[in-house]
Amino acid sequence: MKNLTSIRELTKDSAISLLDNAQQLSQVNDREVKKLPALRGKTVVNLFFENSTRTRISFEVAAKRLSADVINFSADTSSVSKGESLKDTAQTLEALGADAIVIRHPLSGAPKLLAEQNWISASVINAGDGSHEHPTQALLDALTIRQGFGLTQDLSGLKVLIVGDIRHSRVARSNILLLNLLGANVTVAGPQTLIPFGVEEMGAIVSNSFEEALSSKPDVVMMLRVQKERMQGEFFSSTEAYSKAWSLEGDRLNMVGKDSLILHPGPMNRGFEISSEAADDPRSQVLRQVSNGVAVRMAVLYRCLSGEQL
Ligand code: CP
Repeated sequence: MKNLTSIRELTKDSAISLLDNAQQLSQVNDREVKKLPALRGKTVVNLFFENSTRTRISFEVAAKRLSADVINFSADTSSVSKGESLKDTAQTLEALGADAIVIRHPLSGAPKLLAEQNWISASVINAGDGSHEHPTQALLDALTIRQGFGLTQDLSGLKVLIVGDIRHSRVARSNILLLNLLGANVTVAGPQTLIPFGVEEMGAIVSNSFEEALSSKPDVVMMLRVQKERMQGEFFSSTEAYSKAWSLEGDRLNMVGKDSLILHPGPMNRGFEISSEAADDPRSQVLRQVSNGVAVRMAVLYRCLSGEQL
């Protein structure tokens, strides 16, 4: 595997082996010396055209833990602001020594374009493109679910409920694809205006009631941020009306099974799609998801840059 631009590039076996590698690599993060020489001499560039806390920093930590050199590129302080194209930017970064480009871009398909146009020979890893995909987020979510239920293979038979702004969510799309690949049953729930066409064909059941979806006792409840920055127009009448129907709080939090897991990719809008009570609940995996992001990104960088499994 040279690139990772979509979950569609993975088979069930390759996804499981990436999760296995991430599980092994997570042990490095518990050591006193958190470093392996695996990618010594390689250079990873984080090419971010959108803001990020978790993804950018965890790719940086992951690359450094594998002894790669890391360059962080932010579009607003670069020559992109003077009109430089994606092609020229990527070729410039490769001329400066990049072996891998980790790209976050507001346009769906930008990482795939970079990987397929032969502009560069560096590996391309999608760190989130528009509303399209966020494959490493789905992998870290799957690792978190595996660990939460003590599983070592796939997620067969688990029921996962994804709630909120499905329409604008690259996290939801990558998760629906990966969870299906790993044998989980996926339901999405949210206001009708925020459920995209074609989601059933991707492998999800649709529910328009949070309570009804919770009454089927999902093993995992994954809450999503409402992505106001991607909305053209009004998708719900008010923040209060959205929260009243779709926030994980109060009675709805009480409906979540005692052994179920609560996930949120972050950043969370506490009091909007999730209450602080839910975010800080013992069933919440939010910080474990962040830690697992480092291990998953180590596994992906290693696989793309060495072409090998551990
Ligand atoms: N989950 C996620 O992609 O978070 P960031 O936007 O902070 O990277």
